[in-house]
Amino acid sequence: MAVDPNVYDIEIEHVTKRFGDFVAVKDMNLKIKKGEFFSMLGPSGCGKTTTLRMVAGFDQPTEGEIYLANTPVAGVPPYKRPVNTVFQSYALFPHLSTWENIAFGLKRKGVEKKEIQQRVDEAIAMVEMESMRDRKPVQLSGGQQQRVALARALVNRPTVLLLDEPLGALDAKLRKAMQLELKKLQSEVGITFIYVTHDQEEALTMSDRLAVMSQGLVEQIGTPTEIYENPQSAFVANFIGVSNIYLSDVIRVENGVAECRTDKGLGVLVSVQDKAIKAGDKVGVVIRPEKLAIAPAEKMDEVADRENVYDGVVKAVVYIGSVTQFIVDIEGKHLAQVLYQNLYHTEREEWAQEQKVKVACWKDSASLITDVEKGMAEKDLMGEVVKRI
Ligand SMILES: Nc1ncnc2c1ncn2[C@@H]1O[C@H](COP(=O)(O)OP(=O)(O)O)[C@@H](O)[C@H]1O
Ligand SMILES: [Mg+2]
Repeated sequence: MAVDPNVYDIEIEHVTKRFGDFVAVKDMNLKIKKGEFFSMLGPSGCGKTTTLRMVAGFDQPTEGEIYLANTPVAGVPPYKRPVNTVFQSYALFPHLSTWENIAFGLKRKGVEKKEIQQRVDEAIAMVEMESMRDRKPVQLSGGQQQRVALARALVNRPTVLLLDEPLGALDAKLRKAMQLELKKLQSEVGITFIYVTHDQEEALTMSDRLAVMSQGLVEQIGTPTEIYENPQSAFVANFIGVSNIYLSDVIRVENGVAECRTDKGLGVLVSVQDKAIKAGDKVGVVIRPEKLAIAPAEKMDEVADRENVYDGVVKAVVYIGSVTQFIVDIEGKHLAQVLYQNLYHTEREEWAQEQKVKVACWKDSASLITDVEKGMAEKDLMGEVVKRI
C-alpha cells in the first residue's frame, strides 16, 4: 500500500513529557502519514522510547495531545488503541511454541478458535516461519525470535506498529538482512510503522521519512535524502554521516549563490537553495567527504570545472577498499575529510602523505546551516584525528 499523503494515522501536537524536573520530550510536533515508514533517530536518551510509550498509551503526555486516526487518545488505555509495540527484548514465553506465542494475545481476548487459527497462520506466513511453528524460543536464533515477536504484533492487525530498536540484539549481517525484510513486509501489509533507532544508516535505509532527535527536541524532519543532503543544523550534519563544517560569514548573495568566507579566511561559493540567507549572516558551510574531489596537481583539469578549487596537502591516507579516505589540509587553513572512490586498480599507489593536490567542490554540493551553535563542538574531531596520525 502506498503512503497516503493526505491522511495522518498519528498526530503529535505540542507534546511535552516531564519526569519530575527533567524534560524528556519538549514541545514535539509530528504528523505521520497513513502507510508511512517513519523513523525516529537520535542518540541514546534523546526521548525516542518515551515518545513511543506515549503513543502506545503506557505513558501520558504532561502537556499536549496525541491523535490516532484523528481521534484524541488521552485516557485511552493501551489495549484499546489500534497500536502494537515490538520491543528490543522480544519477551517471548519460553514454554510456548512459535504458534502458541503468536496466538497468546488472541486467546486471552477470547477470539473464536477458528479465527485464531486463521490469523496466526497468516501472521506466521508473513514472517516466513511456517517451518518453525512448533519450536520453543530456545530452539530459535535471535533473528527468528525477532520474527516471532513481529508476528505476535501483526496478528492483532494494528493500524500502527511501533518498533523500539527491534534489531538491536542482532549481529550486523543479520541486522542488514532483517532491515530489508522489514521494509518489504511493511510495504506489503501497508501498516504505518514508527521505527525507533539510534543507527543512522538503518534509518536512512528503511524510512520514507524520519525525525532526527536530540535531547528531547526534534531537530529535523524529512526524507532520507533531504536529511542527508540538506541538514538544517550542525547536530544533524554531524549525527547523520560525516560532515566537514566550517563556520563562515556570508559576504553577499547573488543569483541564488552565497559567497561565504570561513573563520580562517577561505572563500567558498554555495548554492542557497530555498534558504533565506543574506549578507552578514553567520552560517556553517557543510561539505560531505564524498562531495570533495581531489586530484594530484598535474591532473588538475579533472576538477577544474568546479566553482571551488583549492590547493591542498595530503596529511593522511587510509585505504578502506572501495574508497580511500584522506585528511587534507586546505591552503593551510582547514582540515577536510575526503572520500575518494577507488574505481581503478592502480589508484592505491598514486597517493602519498604530504603530496600536493587540488581539492574541489561544486557550489551545489555544499549546503548551508544557519543553526551553527549546537553540535559545533564535534567539528574539532578532525583535529583529533590528525593529532593521532
Ligand atoms: N520513568 C522515567 N523516570 C525518569 N526519567 C525517565 C523515565 N523514563 C525515561 N527517563 C529519562 O528520559 C530520557 C529519555 O529517555 P528515553 O525516551 O528512554 O530515551 P531513548 O529511547 O531515546 O534512548 C532519559 O534521560 C531517561 O533517563
Ligand atoms: Mg530507547
